[in-house]
Amino acid sequence: MKALEGIRILDFTHVQSGPTCTQLLAWFGADVIKVERPGTGDITRGQLRDVPDADSLYFTMLNHNKRSITLDTKNAKGREVLDALVKACDVLVENFAPGVLDRMLPWEKVQQLNPRMIVASIKGFGPGPYEECKVYENVAQCAGGSASTTGFRDGLPLVTGAQIGDSGTGLHLALGIVAALFQREKTGKGQRVTCAMQDGVLNLCRVKLRDQQRLAHGPLTEYSQYGEGIPFGDAVPRAGNDSGGGQPGRIVKCKGWETDPNAYLYFITQAPVWEKICDVIGEPEWKSHPDFAKPSARLTRLNQIFERIEQWTMTKTKFEAMDILNEYDIPCGPILSMKEIMEDRSLYQTGTLVKVDHPVRGEYVSVGNPIKLSDSPSEVVRSPLLGEHTEEILRDVLQFDPGRIAEIEHSGALGEIQRQAAE
Ligand code: COA
Repeated sequence: MKALEGIRILDFTHVQSGPTCTQLLAWFGADVIKVERPGTGDITRGQLRDVPDADSLYFTMLNHNKRSITLDTKNAKGREVLDALVKACDVLVENFAPGVLDRMLPWEKVQQLNPRMIVASIKGFGPGPYEECKVYENVAQCAGGSASTTGFRDGLPLVTGAQIGDSGTGLHLALGIVAALFQREKTGKGQRVTCAMQDGVLNLCRVKLRDQQRLAHGPLTEYSQYGEGIPFGDAVPRAGNDSGGGQPGRIVKCKGWETDPNAYLYFITQAPVWEKICDVIGEPEWKSHPDFAKPSARLTRLNQIFERIEQWTMTKTKFEAMDILNEYDIPCGPILSMKEIMEDRSLYQTGTLVKVDHPVRGEYVSVGNPIKLSDSPSEVVRSPLLGEHTEEILRDVLQFDPGRIAEIEHSGALGEIQRQAAE
């Protein structure tokens, strides 16, 4: 038994944000029916291809545990299938450009067909000056406050590697869908769930909006620039690698940094363990010295302190340093490369990393479900080939008889793959 067993999702998502959401729902047991345009399907199938003619990793890693039906929703017969799918499903999820869903399937029509249906959408922006814009990951990172607060004070704004605009918003939407399903248990009615990528990013940048308001009451003392005597402007500055929680933290070099771009460690000089830090780095007198003993005294000497810490970390690999520091509960974290993460066997044991076999591309590694439910384990099933389940869905989900299926196939609504199959 899976948490979302019995819930059927009509999945009109594409690229990254929407597919992240429906993949999570599929891992929790929902039956996700991905509707794709005949011929091409989700555009990511062919993007950033590494194996010729095989669905890209971009697609396969975002579309596990789904079924695929090809359907031209602009074809009259295709529209009949669409209406039947709306009746048969619980949730419709989409991340089309603004206005597309209203043209394809207005909310009023959905309610007529299936008043219990939940319609969940991702857009770049909510209502306002930018609502008509098409939005991609980095646009959302920039508009949501992440880029202006990421990077070093004297450098360009930076986007982050974590896909907080796309995958982050997909995650937000999944929560909204589950909440709406829960409400439907009591009301019997569907509702619309929307999440704008700008809003999702801003939600993840909440602490920076906190700092924006703190600025009105004086400088942000935990930012390195305070200790360096550099005045603050009227907006939250980029904080480099400072930690957002108020405990000074930096990235320091470890043994091998000259040749290994990831031989670094994040080191936090957390106040409660300051004395242990002094012992580990060989500066026991800093425990009682007036320049170092109190957190407030240390703020103007962070460069000196982290240089000393780095002298120590440079004598150790990041893993050796981790082992030593963890013994004393000194918070720190190795900068792990994707290669190191992919080789970490413990992540395979928890299912966070999984090896998946694919009939065209062969075996690959993917990220499994990062959310673990003790009574609803997730098994990762390979992504569907384009239109792989078209006939199965028409027959088993919509209960269409062979004559009707043949009629739909001949209308062209299912595209070439199905017409060939019928011949
Ligand atoms: N059959 C027939 N037509 C279909 C179809 C199907 N199965 N699926 C989609 N279409 C049509 C739509 O009806 C629409 O046609 P219309 O404009 O004539 O009404 C058309 O395809 C375009 O779809 P759209 O989603 O707008 O694609 P796009 O390439 O123009 O835009 C994005 C791509 C990502 C920019 C846009 O979808 C968007 O802004 N999405 C919201 C934000 C988002 O999720 N961005 C991040 C993506 S990771």
